[in-house]
Amino acid sequence: MRFDVFTLFPETIEPYLQSSILKRASERELVEFCVHNIRDWATDKHHVTDDEPYGGGGGMVMKVEPIFASVEDVVGTPPACPVILLTPQGRLFTQEMAHELAAQPRLAMIAGRYEGLDERVRQHLVTDEISIGDYVLTGGEIPALVLIDAVTRLLPGVLGDPDAPQKDSHAESLLEHPHYTRPAEFRGWGVPDVLRSGDHARVNRWRREQSLRRTWERRPELLKEASLTAEERAYLAHLAQDEEQKMPKKL
Ligand code: ADE
Repeated sequence: MRFDVFTLFPETIEPYLQSSILKRASERELVEFCVHNIRDWATDKHHVTDDEPYGGGGGMVMKVEPIFASVEDVVGTPPACPVILLTPQGRLFTQEMAHELAAQPRLAMIAGRYEGLDERVRQHLVTDEISIGDYVLTGGEIPALVLIDAVTRLLPGVLGDPDAPQKDSHAESLLEHPHYTRPAEFRGWGVPDVLRSGDHARVNRWRREQSLRRTWERRPELLKEASLTAEERAYLAHLAQDEEQKMPKKL
């Protein structure tokens, strides 16, 4: 799979792509990362990429021409792949979207900066707008990395454990169970006995219960999407009952 990222600040993106699992994935040619500086397509003497907004007001707006020129030059006219704009106005990124994007052979991403970018980019170049959360960052570079990271780790061969994406938090609409490793005791804090029992059936059962309990406590809305056995539903009902008994009695 190939990613083309269009940005004014490639230096903020490249170090992350050149580290750890993403670096290994590109060295093994499972993925190709191409980061492009939009400024290289600005044709005026000073390579200007932003300008004052029509209608006045503060801030600067990213200019339309260098963005079109860079994207069309690299991915064709019209672009041969989805062109994603990272923006807080986009649809909220989810694990399900990461799976959909991982099915594409190529993705282009535009990381916006400043107050915004010329609306004609959204209207006539971009095919999808994605937000990584309801907060505003200084630019779309970190969101582009978030998408790249979440998608790349789903590609076949990228993770050592081929089942890892299925075991993820959110893969099954449940949060993950707790993890422990050596030492068995640290500052007097131990490890649940069951994990050291060697009884795999018990360990699996404990992990599943923890996963259900955590999801119920922290993200109960995810349980609506989870596929649960009758026994698991009974366990959740039991947790809810316990909680109710702990509530102070109403007058
Ligand atoms: N650019 C600035 N904030 C953003 C966000 N939350 N998601 C995507 N792009 C952004």
